[in-house]
Amino acid sequence: KRLLLLNGPNLNLLGQREPETYGSETLQKIIELVNETAAEAGYELDHFQSNHEGELIDKLQQSQNNVSGIIFNPAAYTHTSIAIRDAVSAIDVPVIEVHISNVHKREAFRHHSMIAPVSAGQIVGFGIEGYRMAAHGLLNMIEKEGR
Ligand code: DQA
Repeated sequence: KRLLLLNGPNLNLLGQREPETYGSETLQKIIELVNETAAEAGYELDHFQSNHEGELIDKLQQSQNNVSGIIFNPAAYTHTSIAIRDAVSAIDVPVIEVHISNVHKREAFRHHSMIAPVSAGQIVGFGIEGYRMAAHGLLNMIEKEGR
């Protein structure tokens, strides 16, 4: 039993990147947080971060056969990538979209998500705690669906 934590561009810089918007915790801390939640439910966690659109798509495609669910922060690709949306739509694995910041309080170009219509759920604006919430929600969903 396995979940995938997937993070898009610039999230490798968490901790130093615009701390007033994204806080001071690092990606490593997020991995630990989600890993804890997954482990409590008896799940292993894969994690992958990339600054490259195609690598994120490759990972989504590959996850098809080996994970029960995905926690995904597509970062700026959220707002632009039809290719990532198509990949999420193509796989038969529930994806929870996460944003650390409240994108709806920010610039208008961050208000629209290409990914939301093909996601199983979305968590926005709770800081890195949102990842833990997403993991809980996802596990609940998976157990209900008997995946
Ligand atoms: C983000 C919000 C996006 O608009 C932005 O491009 C990011 C991070 C968030 O987690 O708040 O890189 O996905």
